[in-house]
Amino acid sequence: SKIENGKVTWESPSNIALVKYWGKKKNQIPENPSISFTLNECKTITTLNYTLKENKTDFEFDVFLDGKKEDAFKPKIQTFFERIESYVPFLRDYYFKIETSNTFPHSSGIASSASGMSALALCLMSIEKELNPELSDVFFNQKASFLARLGSGSASRSIEGDLIVWGKTDSITGSTDLFGIKYPYKVHENFKEYQDTILLVDKGEKQVSSTVGHNLMHNHPFAKNRFDQAHENLETLKTILESGDLNQFIALIESEALTLHAMMMTSMPYFILMKPNTLEIINKIWSFRKDTGLHISFTLDAGANVHVLYPKKEAKVILEFIKNELVAYCQNEQYICDRIGFDAKQL
Ligand code: PMV
Repeated sequence: SKIENGKVTWESPSNIALVKYWGKKKNQIPENPSISFTLNECKTITTLNYTLKENKTDFEFDVFLDGKKEDAFKPKIQTFFERIESYVPFLRDYYFKIETSNTFPHSSGIASSASGMSALALCLMSIEKELNPELSDVFFNQKASFLARLGSGSASRSIEGDLIVWGKTDSITGSTDLFGIKYPYKVHENFKEYQDTILLVDKGEKQVSSTVGHNLMHNHPFAKNRFDQAHENLETLKTILESGDLNQFIALIESEALTLHAMMMTSMPYFILMKPNTLEIINKIWSFRKDTGLHISFTLDAGANVHVLYPKKEAKVILEFIKNELVAYCQNEQYICDRIGFDAKQL
């Protein structure tokens, strides 16, 4: 028996990768494993209204961002629905009104695809659960991540917290290309409440969409080495997360960030996604670290913004430094104080 209509709301976090996903095969299967911190402040809140309809031939939906109809988002969601329809048989049965908003500034250069796609996937899973109340929590989360992956690869890491692995690799038991899993090993308390201050260096449109970016890894001269390196880095990170060695942690994640950018600089066509201010910030971080011995470090996404990462116990001094020395390099002095966070929540 079908449910006539209903409404469900999920709040889903963004995430920042430590070992980066860059390059994919067919069906959103990653070329290499990745691991990320779930964020605590950067979130998408999505309400899915669903109403049973007559015509079952097409997908029917509308998207609202902050209460305003946004047809620009429709193609992306149409593609998402096409990719997941064989796993979500009720998709053509309902008209969907998708209402979404982000806790971070719109077009801040922060990708909303991870939190947005995971929130939508979770809403769909709630409908599936209504139709089939027997579903276990484990299955619910795994399938939500599986569906989110088909929307945006990194979204598979945005269902749970606080450290998530996506992509099969020998050193992590249970890891799979199909969905994200909670990091299954002991993590040193140095990483508890790890801080991420996001410096918004450039809020413009992304120069390279991630679809184009991933495709640049096909026939890339360094692809194989890069994919091998990601497996090695994940294995190394496992020992670091256990020992709590912050200097090794910093070396690994900064190298990952620069390698991601190096892949883009050495692809054909090639791109430089950092801005002059990105480099100013990186150099300031390095000299401050040298001068103080504090464990400030950075990572980057596929753009110019800088995620400044540091342990909770050094937060006071480092945040002072960020405000006094780094925020000046941000567009309109905008930055977001975030930290490692937890599971998505149904509201
Ligand atoms: O999820 P996508 O397809 O937008 O890819 C994002 C990839 C990076 O953000 C650059 C790295 C990562 O692992 O999140």
